[in-house]
Amino acid sequence: MERKEFLSLVGISVGAIILNNCMTSCSSSKNDPQPANGGGSTGGGTSGKVDLSLNLNDATYVSLKTNGTGLVVGSVIVARTKDGDFIAVSKTCTHEGTTINFDNASTGFICPNHGSRFDRNGNVTLGPAAIALKQYKTSFDSASNILKVTE
Ligand code: FES
Repeated sequence: MERKEFLSLVGISVGAIILNNCMTSCSSSKNDPQPANGGGSTGGGTSGKVDLSLNLNDATYVSLKTNGTGLVVGSVIVARTKDGDFIAVSKTCTHEGTTINFDNASTGFICPNHGSRFDRNGNVTLGPAAIALKQYKTSFDSASNILKVTE
């Protein structure tokens, strides 16, 4: 084999390996986050639009039967206030994308990363975040224990 021919084959092989690695890392894996629907919920689909139907009798969501609790469901954080109201906002802090927590004391949300605070409607009450969280509508049917969260 000529030197030129050998180098050509090595170049093609290296290119194929790089392309394979890129394709592998660019494709989705089983560990990728799923759409905003967990077990025991219906609706949503793959459009990215939030349309959740959470059965609070399901073990995954049963914590929301208790006042003063919050739960992340897909891209949304759903909370039941100390007064029993259901509230829901985007889980992603508008500062740098950290998942926020429900704060029962203030009936709002706190980002654990840099301390931004949001009220129950997702409005910023303390920076550094400057943009409100997306707020979602909630409706609860106590007869069926189904909580709907929609845009
Ligand atoms: S990421 Fe939330 S305050 Fe910075």
